[in-house]
Amino acid sequence: MKINGFNGSIENVKSDVTAIFYCEDEKSDNFLNEFNLLTNGVFLTAKEQKLFTGKKGEVFDFFTQINGKIKRFAVLGLGKKDQLTPTILKNVSGAFLRKFQSETIKTLALFSRNLLENEQSVIAEGVTIGSYYASLYKTGEAKKQNQVNEFLICSEKTEKKGIKNGILLGESVNLARQLGNVSANLMVPQDLVNEAEKMSKEAGLEVSVLDTEKMAKLKMGALLGVGQGSVHPPFLIVMQHKAKSKNKPTVAFVGKGITFDSGGISIKPGQGMEEMKFDMCGAAAVIGAMKVVGTLKPDVNVIGICPAAENLPSHTAQRPGDVVTAMDGTTIEIVNTDAEGRLILCDAIAYAQQEFKPDYLIDLATLTGAAVATFGKVRSAYLTNNQEFGNLVRDCANSVGELVWELPTDSEYEEFIKGDYADIKNSGGRYGGTITAGLFLKHFVKPETKWVHLDIAGTAWDAKPKSHLDFGATGVMVKTLVEIAHKLS
Ligand code: BES
Ligand code: MN
Ligand code: ZN
Repeated sequence: MKINGFNGSIENVKSDVTAIFYCEDEKSDNFLNEFNLLTNGVFLTAKEQKLFTGKKGEVFDFFTQINGKIKRFAVLGLGKKDQLTPTILKNVSGAFLRKFQSETIKTLALFSRNLLENEQSVIAEGVTIGSYYASLYKTGEAKKQNQVNEFLICSEKTEKKGIKNGILLGESVNLARQLGNVSANLMVPQDLVNEAEKMSKEAGLEVSVLDTEKMAKLKMGALLGVGQGSVHPPFLIVMQHKAKSKNKPTVAFVGKGITFDSGGISIKPGQGMEEMKFDMCGAAAVIGAMKVVGTLKPDVNVIGICPAAENLPSHTAQRPGDVVTAMDGTTIEIVNTDAEGRLILCDAIAYAQQEFKPDYLIDLATLTGAAVATFGKVRSAYLTNNQEFGNLVRDCANSVGELVWELPTDSEYEEFIKGDYADIKNSGGRYGGTITAGLFLKHFVKPETKWVHLDIAGTAWDAKPKSHLDFGATGVMVKTLVEIAHKLS
C-alpha cells in the first residue's frame, strides 16, 4: 500500500471512501458546512438524527450521490477535543483502514484541515500499523491481507516529511511484530541473527555477532547455560549507530531474545506454552528501534544488543541446582531453569558495559508472569537505579502511548535472590516476582550506568485483535526507544 499526501480541498479528493475526523464537542464551522454541502446535507441531517456523536472510535459511514455517481464518506469520532492525543489520532486512522477492507475499495482518503507535520506522521504510522495482518501462514481465501492500494492523507497542505517519518515508524513497529509472530521453528536464534543483519545492512548500522566460541572466551556462562539445551546454538547480536558529533552520550538497548521458552528442565505447563514464541519480543523491539535509529541517524551513540537463545529441555540442558559463572564473575545458582531471561540478559548487560561504557542502559524483556498478573495487557512495568532517567523513560513511553508504571527497588527484596551455594540465585520465588527479577539484573549494572529495566511480558503481544491493531505481537517499546534516542541526541 502506498501512503501519499494530497494537497487541496476536500471536493477534489478522489477515493473510494473519504473520511473526516470529528470531535464530540466540535462546533459547526466553514469546513463542516462545506462538507455538508459536498455530502448533499447528509452530514448535518445525520448529526441531528444522532446517527453519530463523534465519540472516540465511532465510525459513521454513508453514501450520497454526486454528479450522478454514488460516493462514500465516513466520519471518524475522536472523542473530546481537549482529550485528543497523537495516540488517538493514530489509532483512529489505523482503525479506519482496517474497517474498510473489501475487494472493491482500493483507495481511502482522510481529510483534515491544517494538518501539522506531527499529525501527518501519526496518521501515516497508524495506517501502516493497521495494514499489517498476523495470520501469516493461512493459505488461499482464508488469508487476511490489506487490500487497499493507496491511502491519501489530505489537507490544504501536506509535507511529505511527516508522512515519511510515520511510515518509517510504522514499518519498524511492524518489523518487530513480524519477528514476534513468526513461529518458533522458523525463528531460531540464527534466524534472529539473520534478521538483525539484514535490517542493519539496509539501515546502515554496524553489526557484529558473537557465536558460542566467542562467548565462551568472554566467559558468558549464564547466557551459554541457557542455550546449551537446544541444537540451535545461542548468539549475541550487537548493532551500533555512531553519533556524528564528539562527546555525545551513549545509550544501550538490551533486548531479551528467547526464541522459544519451554521453561527448560523446569518445564512449563502445556497450556499457553505456544505463546512462548513471543519470548524474543524484547529483542524484536530493539531491532525495530535500531531500524529507525539507523535510518534517521540521531546525533547520539546507540548500541542495540540482543542475546538470543532457545530454552529447551534435553540431555544437554542445564539443570535446577546447576551453578554458572556470569561474564562479570558473579556465580549464579540456577534454582529454576524457567527463569532464563535474566540469565541471558545479565551477560548481555555486563558485555554492553565492558565494551561500550554506556551512559544509559535500557533492558527490555518479556521477563515475568508476575508483570502480566500486575498490569495485565495495559502497562509495562519498569524499575530504575536513577530517578531522573527513569522519569525520562516514563515520559517518553507514556507520550507515545506505550504506558508504563514504576515498581520499587527496595533492598529488602534482594534477600529473596541471595544464593545459598553461590552469590545469587536466578529466582526469588513467586512473591514480588517482577521486582526480584529486576533486582537480579540490577546486580550486573554498574552504579555509574543509568539504568531502566522494562518488563513487557504483558504488553508484547495480545491474543485478541483491536480495531486498529491485529492480534499477535504488538511491537511495544519500539517507539519508546526511538523517542529516548531522540531525547538524548
Ligand atoms: N518468559 C517467561 C515470562 C512470561 C510468562 C512472559 C508468561 C509472558 C507470559 C519467563 O522466562 C519465565 O518463565 N518467568 C518465570 C520466572 C519464575 C520461574 C521465577 C515466571 O514469571 O513464572
Ligand atoms: Mn522462562
Ligand atoms: Zn522467558
